[in-house]
Amino acid sequence: MAEHACVDLKPVEAILSRYPREEPSLIQVLQDVQRAYNYLPCDVLTRVAGELRVPLAKVFSVATFYKAFSLNPQGRTIIKVCTGTACHIRGAQQLIEEVERRLGIKPGGTTEDMAFTLQTVNCVGACAMAPVVIVGEKYVGAAKATTLAAHLARGE
Ligand code: FES
Repeated sequence: MAEHACVDLKPVEAILSRYPREEPSLIQVLQDVQRAYNYLPCDVLTRVAGELRVPLAKVFSVATFYKAFSLNPQGRTIIKVCTGTACHIRGAQQLIEEVERRLGIKPGGTTEDMAFTLQTVNCVGACAMAPVVIVGEKYVGAAKATTLAAHLARGE
């Protein structure tokens, strides 16, 4: 697992101070850690395990079970290309190739400057807008390579 040598523990200390130091706090703490760091750094998980008195193996099993959590550093903007049936039929693969070509990353990859991570996702429930790409928080419907390029350029 790629890991930064020094992870600032101040954000996790602030998060832990908001919750009871017990196992039922685990998922909420991990959600806040994911939001604060954009992933779940190994050092931070060790700290969480110690403070909540939860075995580290259990923390990792929760961290790997939920798709919302990532154990690897992620880009500041996550690009999710829907590859569900409706989006697939309407050109999702070409959109993936466009992102790959522009950013030089494959699905699951992150640009070196940590600006973008590319992911593929199953149907996001917006088939009428297919093909759908989610850039950060923004849903881009009827996505085309050209409009996608504009969103990537703005980093939104
Ligand atoms: S298949 Fe893409 S939103 Fe449903």
